[in-house]
Amino acid sequence: MTGHARMERLPSPGGLGEAQLRDTQKAFDSVAADYDGPRGNNELIQRMRGTMWKTIGDVLPSGSRLLDLGCGTGLDAVELARHGYEVVASDWSPAMVERTRMRATEEAVGSKVSAVHLGVQQLHQLGGRFDGVYSNFGPLNCAPDLRAVANECARLVRPGGSLVFSVMGRVCPWEVGHYAVRRRFGRAGIRFARGAQSVGMNGHTIWTYYYMPREFYAAFEQHFELAGYRALSLFLPPPYMVDRYRRRPAWYERLGRMDDRLGGLRWLRDMGDHFLIVMHRR
Ligand SMILES: C[S@@+](CC[C@H](N)C(=O)[O-])C[C@H]1O[C@@H](n2cnc3c(N)ncnc32)[C@H](O)[C@@H]1O
Repeated sequence: MTGHARMERLPSPGGLGEAQLRDTQKAFDSVAADYDGPRGNNELIQRMRGTMWKTIGDVLPSGSRLLDLGCGTGLDAVELARHGYEVVASDWSPAMVERTRMRATEEAVGSKVSAVHLGVQQLHQLGGRFDGVYSNFGPLNCAPDLRAVANECARLVRPGGSLVFSVMGRVCPWEVGHYAVRRRFGRAGIRFARGAQSVGMNGHTIWTYYYMPREFYAAFEQHFELAGYRALSLFLPPPYMVDRYRRRPAWYERLGRMDDRLGGLRWLRDMGDHFLIVMHRR
């Protein structure tokens, strides 16, 4: 996810309850109208989105039936529909679902995209069979029970099918540096904290878990084989620092090329703003 500012510990160490899920829903409802702007789709986000699209294209052929978890305004679903995929696009925010539905209609892919109001905690309500499931920019960081999501994905995805997820990681050197020099040490270390963290957006709260890639994969490994993972925005800064990028785009593009070339290396892929992980159904 992008643009997070305020964070603190969940008062009780338990999982996310109904109240926290509603907080997150309200937060995203409140930004849905302008989420295609700098907050949700700036140059740094578009760069990561491009890597996501390429990865989906590499593992799932056009014509596949896909499930999008946390579709936002439907940018990915509509792009994939344009390339011949059939997408069930789901989100916990009704306002985001409406944006997706409108975008699909406007872009004349309404018959390929079905937008549904469904949280990742409600996947047991969804039927059907999918060739793959994808989730972009951290919706799974908001899942109250990642193992339950993994079990539902196992039920929904055919053997040999794929999962492609971009997830907010724990080790983001840019973020640590950014807040440490401002002496905001609690904020600098927030991704290392255990349990759900409260993250401010637009005067609302998003409840967020952060993961190391291996920690994330542990929830899925019973049913899914790990194909690989890579860092996204390790050399480039996180999207909320887009102003830096805009001041010196050519210089930052060089860092972007380093992300492309080196983000999959063993000692680097555990870091970055997000990681992109691919798994196959056993
Ligand atoms: C950072 S946005 C990313 C949206 C979109 N995937 C994209 O690439 O632009 C995170 C999305 O996750 C959704 N979300 C948050 N909690 C969720 C949940 N429990 N179940 C499903 N979606 C959720 C939000 O409503 C929001 O649309």
